[in-house]
Amino acid sequence: EKFLKFFESRGHKIVPSSSLLPTDPSVLFTTAGMQQFKPYYLGEKSPWGKNVASCQKCIRTSDIEEVGDERHLTFFEMLGNFSFGGYFKEEAIKLAYKFIVKELKLEIDYVTVFEGSHGVEFDKESYGIWKNLGISEDKIKKSGIEDNFWGPTGTGGPCGPTTEIYVNGIEIWNIVFNEFYFPGTREELLSGISGKKLEKLKTPGVDTGMGLERLAMVVQKVSTVFETDLFEPIIKLIPEEFNERKKRIIADHAR
Ligand code: SER
Repeated sequence: EKFLKFFESRGHKIVPSSSLLPTDPSVLFTTAGMQQFKPYYLGEKSPWGKNVASCQKCIRTSDIEEVGDERHLTFFEMLGNFSFGGYFKEEAIKLAYKFIVKELKLEIDYVTVFEGSHGVEFDKESYGIWKNLGISEDKIKKSGIEDNFWGPTGTGGPCGPTTEIYVNGIEIWNIVFNEFYFPGTREELLSGISGKKLEKLKTPGVDTGMGLERLAMVVQKVSTVFETDLFEPIIKLIPEEFNERKKRIIADHAR
């Protein structure tokens, strides 16, 4: 609620979470907050205006083998603010900084920005914005396409360089600058063998995602997402004979 109110009072329309079963036929489950907004990055007019925020239920099976450690889940809720041709890098980074540092009073360990590759340049604009906000250069790390270039989802869609915020050693917020459209899968983009090329989007957009469970973990000062108030009531119901890792897996899958 704090997140949604923060963005509502700054010109964002609050949009309810869409179903976990998406209308986008290129994915089996809703995997990100941006999924329901995909057409608006590609020029279709958004019924909610240019700037929106949501708390989206997501299922992601890509990390399923890691569920049971301190922070990976298959079901989670993603807090996000989005802009379709409204604001861009400067405003998006400033809003994120304000929410984390001023509103939640958390300390940023470091941030990452895209170092450039696959024909896309180093994101020196984001680097400069973080620097102007007072983040020292040793805390602005450059990183590659694997971690700092998001999307596309499914068989094609909007994608672009990202900047990520780390608090207490974990990534909590991913801020994507959708500057491009890629007419193929992410695998095709990474390998380059399909010959498909990134196309510049007419109107660049912003797509951010912050895991509610990870945020709760750092705000509530606990060392795993399973110790937050989102999980404790479920974990308590699981019989003692299961070891810690099994309890976590059961709790995640039960949700
Ligand atoms: N779509 C990006 C992600 O899922 C940012 O919301 O991380």
